[in-house]
Amino acid sequence: MKNVTAVIGSQWGDEGKGKIIDYLASKADMVVRAQGGGNAGHTVVIEGKKYALHLVPSGVLNAGTINIIGNGVAFDPADFFSEIEELDAGGANIDGIYVSDRAHIVFPYHKTLDALAEKARGSDSIGTTLKGIGPCYTDKVERCGLRVCDLLDEDSFRAAFAQRVDAKNEIIVKLYGGTPLDKEAVTEEYVAYGKRLAPYVRDTSVMVHEAISAGKTVLLEGAQGSMLDLDFGTYPFVTSSHPTSGGFAVGAGIGLSTACEVIGITKAYTTRVGAGPMVTELTDEVGDMIREKGREFGTTTGRPRRCGWFDGVVVRHSARINGMTSLALMLLDVLDDFDEIKLCHAYEKNGEILEYFPASAVALKGSKPLYRTVKGWNASLTECRTWDDLPANAKAYISAVEEIAGVPVKIVSVGSGREHTIAREDIL
Ligand code: GDP
Ligand code: IMO
Ligand code: MG
Repeated sequence: MKNVTAVIGSQWGDEGKGKIIDYLASKADMVVRAQGGGNAGHTVVIEGKKYALHLVPSGVLNAGTINIIGNGVAFDPADFFSEIEELDAGGANIDGIYVSDRAHIVFPYHKTLDALAEKARGSDSIGTTLKGIGPCYTDKVERCGLRVCDLLDEDSFRAAFAQRVDAKNEIIVKLYGGTPLDKEAVTEEYVAYGKRLAPYVRDTSVMVHEAISAGKTVLLEGAQGSMLDLDFGTYPFVTSSHPTSGGFAVGAGIGLSTACEVIGITKAYTTRVGAGPMVTELTDEVGDMIREKGREFGTTTGRPRRCGWFDGVVVRHSARINGMTSLALMLLDVLDDFDEIKLCHAYEKNGEILEYFPASAVALKGSKPLYRTVKGWNASLTECRTWDDLPANAKAYISAVEEIAGVPVKIVSVGSGREHTIAREDIL
């Protein structure tokens, strides 16, 4: 048993990370978000009530859990305050939320530039969530970003922000022909956020370190999925952070010597929202059936998700780059009504077999999925509560996933509620 567990999306996001964090958080002391920002949409369903989390960690629905927004997060104060107000009204535990003083701030010009850049890309647009994520991380790397600690010192913030707004307005107007931001109004808005934010701000890497040293149970909550990773995803159709275990180390401020469970949250099939390659995509009625049954529409943007069979090349790739120790196989109930179910174990292109996910979209183009077909179980899994309750064909499907991915499945999820979770072995 290890006291640090990383919960990582294996595919293109929306695998059910929020549900598993909430499930594991009942036994955890701390949940840490280390990357991404308001682009995330994590759903937790408790007794039929749905909560959508974007910036706030999904441990917030467990009383007593400390929830940390780490240094690697692209932090939007406006969205943060509206999210916690909504959570408070919904009865969540908003007392133990802390924000890193090192987190970079998403400003309105980041959102404006996100939209303008997407428009300028035309048919090559990425299909971003328009939450300003790419432009915020661009400023971080360019070394002209402003961080939470900068927001706390009003005078120096005013001076630095004035310079940033002028520079961004130049780009918005001269490069894109867009509408400039109202400098005075936006400055007052963010000065006010700085005052409101002060009680939440900490050096969160110290808090995480102290919790781990004291033997507390810490969950690292991934946003997005490994195939949206800047280095290992389907570049350029990716997000602008590292939703992988290495990214969590940097984004939470923990060292690689920390012993860690790494759980890959994995849909029993594949979805993707936004543009970019997806070899097992189904544009036929089978894809429509998965979308309908799985209610595959975005939590953040409401967009219909692209659906297809399980892609083992993707999950093997994710397992390797993250060092996954187990998988949580999610939304298995969505496959209840199929007579036959397919799992992709490799790609084929011009007679050549691809076992590893290639770097280049050009190399991937024209690749066809090679499938293993297994029998469906034609029964509802929603009432299954233990491993023994699962039909033999569902167990056979899980074994096929384990074999293709090379990682054991330790959690099986058969519905959106906490009760729909089958743990094969106590993970924590
Ligand atoms: P996240 O971004 O990884 O947290 O995932 P999302 O919340 O965006 O999308 C997952 C969706 O599937 C949510 O609507 C969940 O409530 C739902 N969900 C999670 N696990 C299951 C499951 O096992 N079965 C079904 N039917 N729905 C699930
Ligand atoms: P969760 O945490 C699914 C996708 C967008 C787009 C690409 C870049 O809920 O799994 P961005 O706004 O990050 O610059 O968009 O990444 N994307 C997600 N897809 N789930 C997410 O988060 C996503 N966050 C970003 O659709 O294709
Ligand atoms: Mg989501």
